[in-house]
Amino acid sequence: TATFTITASAAAVPAKVLPNVQLTNWLETSDEWITQRTGIQQRHVATTETTTSLAVAVGRQLLANARLAARDVDLIVVATMSPDQLTPATATQVQAALGAENAVAFDINAACAGFVYGLQVVHQMLGVGQTALLIGSETLSRLVDWHDRRTAVLFGDGAGGVVVHRSKAGPGHWLGDHFATEGRLGHYLQAGQFPQVNPWQTASAELKWAFQMDGRRVYDFATKRVPDSIQRALMAAGVAPEQVQQYVLHQANARIIKSVARKLDLAASQCPINIAQYGNTAAASEPILFAELMAQGAIKRGDKVVFSGFGGGLSVGSVVIEF
Ligand code: ACO
Repeated sequence: TATFTITASAAAVPAKVLPNVQLTNWLETSDEWITQRTGIQQRHVATTETTTSLAVAVGRQLLANARLAARDVDLIVVATMSPDQLTPATATQVQAALGAENAVAFDINAACAGFVYGLQVVHQMLGVGQTALLIGSETLSRLVDWHDRRTAVLFGDGAGGVVVHRSKAGPGHWLGDHFATEGRLGHYLQAGQFPQVNPWQTASAELKWAFQMDGRRVYDFATKRVPDSIQRALMAAGVAPEQVQQYVLHQANARIIKSVARKLDLAASQCPINIAQYGNTAAASEPILFAELMAQGAIKRGDKVVFSGFGGGLSVGSVVIEF
């Protein structure tokens, strides 16, 4: 079987930082509540940046970090639930900006599970000898009701990505995976409803654009289904939980990650958390964390890494990769 090798990573976040305490200017909340319940201390919020510009910034860094020419990219996948527009897809704009004229480009939406679903798309689509850019990019700030304290404190903007190369032989292998969706629970996390417009009807005033979330239900889904999904992926891979050096989990809430770690009997050092700096950046959270781990030299050749994401859908997915 062909290799699955992550050869580079990168991240980009908006310049503007919004610390918890600033949210108290207009929300009935506190730094203590947000920090204790979520682990979040600040988030980046796009002012001039867009989902596309963040994705392009990551794309440029990926080419530089992998010493890759734009014409040698075969596939560009952007995972996002907050694109600047529905069409053309964000990935096509990354292709154009990079001049990656030989690449096929499209977006996928699996909300906060988007990055890990994107890994599987790349795994399935990429031919031997080919190279892909997989980028998660979000400006969730535009899907947030900034006056709803139940959701406004949770989300942040940013982008991250990886370069994936497949070849006949060498380091890097896809060892196992597990994916599941529970559409009957989808109403627990909604955002971005479009108006119904036709010649006989004007748009309804009751549009739900901003996040509507039953946080408790999503929390319960995550703390139950994420450990289960990771266990199934590890079983498929024939790998024991303690043999995995790093678990790169979607950063939705530090308490969710600690609960997953407890259930799988993992050490804190196996489950890095960077949500304090970024909040929940949906499809961008795993690649931002991964880029930080790579920059710190925390992942070496031969290490096993689990990526696991969950969220809107409700969806969950986990993959086990050997570096
Ligand atoms: N500041 C102060 N008080 C607050 C705030 C706030 N920002 N938000 C809610 N509260 C209050 C509530 O009103 C409630 O008050 P009450 O007891 O008087 O009714 C109290 O705090 C407790 O609220 P809970 O919702 O029970 O708090 P909980 O401990 O469950 O934490 C949270 C809420 C952080 C949302 C948690 O449930 C969670 O993280 N859920 C998962 C959410 C998630 O991961 N979503 C993203 C999925 S990824 C994607 O696809 C986008």
